[in-house]
Amino acid sequence: MLRALPLLTTLLWKGRDMDVGMIGGTGPAGRALALRLASSGNSVTIGSRSAERAAEVAVELRAAWPERELRLAGDENAAACRGDVVVLATPWEAAALTVRDLRAALSGRVLVSMVNALEKVGREFHALVPARGSIAATLQALVPETGVSIAFQHLPARRLAALEESLEDDVLVCADSAAAVAATVALVESVPGLRALEAGSLASAGPIEAMTAVLLSVNVRYRTETALRLSGVAHPGAG
Ligand SMILES: NC(=O)c1ccc[n+]([C@@H]2O[C@H](COP(=O)([O-])OP(=O)(O)OC[C@H]3O[C@@H](n4cnc5c(N)ncnc54)[C@H](OP(=O)(O)O)[C@@H]3O)[C@@H](O)[C@H]2O)c1
Repeated sequence: MLRALPLLTTLLWKGRDMDVGMIGGTGPAGRALALRLASSGNSVTIGSRSAERAAEVAVELRAAWPERELRLAGDENAAACRGDVVVLATPWEAAALTVRDLRAALSGRVLVSMVNALEKVGREFHALVPARGSIAATLQALVPETGVSIAFQHLPARRLAALEESLEDDVLVCADSAAAVAATVALVESVPGLRALEAGSLASAGPIEAMTAVLLSVNVRYRTETALRLSGVAHPGAG
């Protein structure tokens, strides 16, 4: 079904505000992305193992940006799976078990993993090599009825959360199904300043997840918060 109607799916998402769920949305990455997506017009449900914790985070974010009238709510992870698109923002160690437990709720949906498998070694982060080469491919094998994609791996949470700062970054998107690519590209490009670049199937997810370790080393060396911008691509993006 997910593979059947890529063109229709692309048209369906184009220019439409989306209903987004965020599994593990109470951490720095999830809450920052939830905030940026909601401030871009999307309706976001922050998910958590605790509905109360998620609701508190949603209240906190709405209170911090009252003038934005954010459509942001909090609920348990299973409820966050009701969105058009669901983002996974847990630590890598928790990703497989969490997604396996939510298999029924995620069936037929698009699951966007922003997860990176990294290990801190001294002042550096080292990329780990998960089974099947990437966290995303591991997840896709666990939930074959769900279209798993990757996006947002390289965007620092602090920059996403700083709504007063504009973005000018590329987001690499991979998935095995065209429908998952289309939904993920639409989600990325709903955010002004973000350009989605389609980077192939989940075979490319491993190097993209691992690249985050390289960017973090650059951040440490130059005391900055870098992200990606690829030269030589004509596609202007919608953002
Ligand atoms: N931080 C960044 O700048 C950034 C940028 C891009 C991508 N990422 C990636 O995004 C993911 C989340 O990063 P983060 O820094 O926000 O992580 P985090 O704070 O360690 O975890 C995020 C949330 O995951 C849930 N969680 C934690 N342990 C869990 C477990 N064992 N089982 C189920 N849920 C669990 C928690 O929510 P509840 O306790 O409320 O359930 C927690 O608030 C990571 O994979 C990271 O690599 C991070």
